[in-house]
Amino acid sequence: MEYKKVLEADCALVEQWLDQCFAGRERYGQIYDAMQYSLMAGGKRIRPVLTLETCRMCGGDVQAALPFACAVEMIHTYSLIHDDLPCMDDDDLRRGKPTNHKVYGEATAVLAGDALLTAAFEMMTEHCGDLDPRRVLDAIDCLSHGAGAAGMIGGQVLDMEGEQRPLALAELELTQSLKTGALICAAAEIGCIIAGGSSQQRAAVRRYAQCVGRAFQIRDDMLDVTSTDQVLGKPIGSDAENGKTTFVTMLGLEACGKLVDELTMQAVEALSGFEQADFHIWLSKLLAGRDH
Ligand code: IPE
Ligand code: IPE
Ligand code: MG
Ligand code: MG
Ligand code: MG
Repeated sequence: MEYKKVLEADCALVEQWLDQCFAGRERYGQIYDAMQYSLMAGGKRIRPVLTLETCRMCGGDVQAALPFACAVEMIHTYSLIHDDLPCMDDDDLRRGKPTNHKVYGEATAVLAGDALLTAAFEMMTEHCGDLDPRRVLDAIDCLSHGAGAAGMIGGQVLDMEGEQRPLALAELELTQSLKTGALICAAAEIGCIIAGGSSQQRAAVRRYAQCVGRAFQIRDDMLDVTSTDQVLGKPIGSDAENGKTTFVTMLGLEACGKLVDELTMQAVEALSGFEQADFHIWLSKLLAGRDH
């Protein structure tokens, strides 16, 4: 199958699963509406696709990885809801729609984020089927580390610090690799874990995802300067408005473009030991040149 078709098929699986995962629940106030609003607003679904395709690349069953892939997307979506709050980046547009707090108010937006974070862990335990419990535990361990204070949250804290004072290049690299890279790494590694991949495979997957994650955030910083609200589905100029240190403010657009290409080459090299890495190679190149 053509790679774009694989991507579309994976996205369809994820959309379908996310759309029905809270069906039949007791509804208290607007909480599920607020959760579904952001979850189904149409993200690119890069992280769950990485989980599914890494599982396939490591010889696993994509269906078994699906609840785990969707758990990663729930955590990503919660991070966006909170990232947009007035106390953080204070943005009004996300995935082409008004941000969660603009529609539901700040308190419900905070709670919707909290509930998505919690639901992610519920999904992994509730829908693990007859998978080896060791793999389920490893996946939960991987995601909790990637999303927590030593991963994504740690990166968000450093990112906020970067509004108060200029960051040194090494600090900025750490910030970016934590706030964006940690969850992208977890997404890919979980695919390998569910497939029962070897520790060498997992290490190679991590190296690939670390490079993709860094390139992804540098591209995000570039698009914040070069794109439009309409194409991006979120406000451009947000970083400058908040006085953030980014790769663009530090290195300029041209050097950023070169760095994205270099990191993409390194990502490709990391997978040289796999027989079937074509999709991952294609995806890393697609993301390097993305316009939203
Ligand atoms: C946006 O992530 C936040 C970053 C970590 C740069 P995406 O660009 O993957 O956002 P969606 O999921 O497609 O909306
Ligand atoms: C967000 O980084 C990273 C997380 C949500 C963890 P940004 O603040 O650059 O993401 P956008 O540009 O708002 O999507
Ligand atoms: Mg931010
Ligand atoms: Mg932001
Ligand atoms: Mg950004």
